[in-house]
Amino acid sequence: MRILGIETSCDETAAAVVEDGHKLLSNVVASSMDIHAQYGGVVPEIAARSHIEAIDPVIEQALTEANCTWNDIDGIAVTNGAGLGGSLLVGVLAARTAAIIHDKPLYACNHVEGHVYANFLTETPLPGYVMPDQQPKFPMLALIVSGGHSQLVLFRDHFDYHLLGRTGDDAIGEAFDKVAKILGLPYPGGPSVSKIAIDGDSKKYKFPKAKMANKYDFSFSGLKTAVLRTVQHEISVGYDFPSFELAERLSSAQKADIAASFQFTAVETVVDKTVMAFEEFVPKSVVIAGGVAASPELRRQLSARLPIDVNYADMKLCTDNGAMIATLGCYKKLLHQKTADPYSLDIEPNLTM
Ligand code: KG4
Ligand code: ZN
Repeated sequence: MRILGIETSCDETAAAVVEDGHKLLSNVVASSMDIHAQYGGVVPEIAARSHIEAIDPVIEQALTEANCTWNDIDGIAVTNGAGLGGSLLVGVLAARTAAIIHDKPLYACNHVEGHVYANFLTETPLPGYVMPDQQPKFPMLALIVSGGHSQLVLFRDHFDYHLLGRTGDDAIGEAFDKVAKILGLPYPGGPSVSKIAIDGDSKKYKFPKAKMANKYDFSFSGLKTAVLRTVQHEISVGYDFPSFELAERLSSAQKADIAASFQFTAVETVVDKTVMAFEEFVPKSVVIAGGVAASPELRRQLSARLPIDVNYADMKLCTDNGAMIATLGCYKKLLHQKTADPYSLDIEPNLTM
């Protein structure tokens, strides 16, 4: 059984084919990131227009690389939320049209659930992927950490989950992106902060961790502000000093130490709560999902503190991609979840789990 997955919720136009929920046959991602990088963040109108140009060739390439024609495809899965309205619309309309023309069942997918399903891929003939040797088992604890989401979710089974906690303000990836901006590093901030943090001292600065009423909730806006205040203090300027001029007054060593100290605290915050949830619920597996799951520091701290092995997805499957949506679509089909109407499926930009 093969599902074509389509993902266009942000700035990646992505399509992939997955077989039986575990075998990745193709994974094509066209990103408009380079264009957004010059503005320091995603520009929704540019993202939507880039999707329109890329969507048809990306779908065609995903089928070709999987050695498939439409006849070999048993269903289409598409992200219909959460995400940017204009971006979601392009993927959803492409999927609806293909479902009608080729007479295939259509599955509407939640982007964040999709990130979790990247962890079910264990096999691929494609070169350059490092896959886990087995699928996660239920009950499964999922730490979801991306540019738009930070949440801890306990899955009792497929499609049967309980949200333990979420962020009350910024997502952890957003904090990485904002700290990168303060330090004058390129967008997206996660990889650029990670890169300079290698040469920094993670103990040089002590940044705060928020205390929340619900012990599994997160908050990252205070941490981001603490980084800003530290930078202002280091270069002896007031709170009203233009933030875009801060970075040029910092030395490379100062930037590296701030990046390393921030990264350590941001990651330790989510790891503390994951370990706490692991001890309370004793799941059979722990997975991490979303763009920040690509963070080597997150993988290092989790492996050091959890008593079980975490099976990590390939880095390329952590950031936005069509493979995770195709995998989720496979389970929707296998477990007889309801299909979407290709004549009316709408986008849901604010969809939650
Ligand atoms: O899942 P994703 O591709 O898009 C959303 O659904 O948000 O996640 C993007 C986020 C960005 O905030 C980016 O800075 C972060 O993931 N990210 C990282 C790393 N690679 C990407 N954060 C920390 N370390 C990384 N290596
Ligand atoms: Zn994402």
